[in-house]
Amino acid sequence: MEARNAIVTGASYGIGEHIARALAARRVNLLLVARWEAALARLEPERRTRHTKVEFAAIDLGGPRAADEVAQAAATELGTVDVLVNNAAVELQRRFHTLDTDEIETVLRVDLITPIVLSRLLLPQMLERGYGRIVNISAIAGRVGFPFTEAYAASKDGLIAFSRVLRNDYRSADVSASAIVLGAVRDAGLGQRTLDETGLKANTAFMVKPDKVARAVVRAIERDKAEIVVMPGPGRLMKALMDLFPGFGSAMNRISGAEKLMSSVADYREASRHSVRMSM
Ligand SMILES: NC(=O)c1ccc[n+]([C@@H]2O[C@H](COP(=O)([O-])OP(=O)(O)OC[C@H]3O[C@@H](n4cnc5c(N)ncnc54)[C@H](OP(=O)(O)O)[C@@H]3O)[C@@H](O)[C@H]2O)c1
Repeated sequence: MEARNAIVTGASYGIGEHIARALAARRVNLLLVARWEAALARLEPERRTRHTKVEFAAIDLGGPRAADEVAQAAATELGTVDVLVNNAAVELQRRFHTLDTDEIETVLRVDLITPIVLSRLLLPQMLERGYGRIVNISAIAGRVGFPFTEAYAASKDGLIAFSRVLRNDYRSADVSASAIVLGAVRDAGLGQRTLDETGLKANTAFMVKPDKVARAVVRAIERDKAEIVVMPGPGRLMKALMDLFPGFGSAMNRISGAEKLMSSVADYREASRHSVRMSM
């Protein structure tokens, strides 16, 4: 992978930061994208320690021209792009009927539409040079019908389908796509932040560390893997069962405690919104 050029979206904190560091450690030249530029800049020292290029672009991936802006920034900062890691995502953790149209559209745009359009914009140059890897960070949410994730789960399952078709269509030209399907992640990312903010407890036996996700991304790129599920054994079993028996989803959510946990999180998010509105 050394000296390849890669874009990583959502690299300002959370899992994306770990993915970016893992790629920098392999001396991949990086364009890191998110909204919060100061947080992206925390990866600047990687330039010196890894002797690699680390550039930043502060772009809102929920904007209608976001993919064009990222492609333009990549052309300016990297020239060509060999690898795209679509990692950025937003998940509101509220009951679906409380989301307004703009909120639903933002989730779909950041989590699904921008990754697809950006892949499309980068594809011709990958085909021309005969190498490309597009890694889409997905989630188990849709597969197991995780509570209150309707728009997010639709996007994440959409990314799996997108990766499979893209891979089949272009792999003969050594331009390929992979989906990384994540369960809950601890020590970094939205899941951990939620536990920290709310004080709620989750079974860490079902969670993986972000470094494991970063290693899966590296493996997907190096070995061109179609799909990597990053979850401990019991979670993988649950995914397989839900694929076979989707009708048991709500019972599984009750038994696993997901329904109770996510109801509390949704209540917390709703209360936080109201307190922000009251203070305005
Ligand atoms: N954490 C988990 O347990 C878990 C489980 C399953 C799947 N995943 C997947 O793993 C990936 C990373 O999740 P995470 O937990 O690390 O999330 P996170 O901690 O919330 O980080 C999200 C990243 O995306 C960026 N982002 C969000 N909205 C954006 C926007 N409108 N424009 C540009 N950048 C935006 C954020 O940066 P800015 O705020 O600076 O823009 C941040 O860098 C996601 O694809 C998620 O679906 C995570």
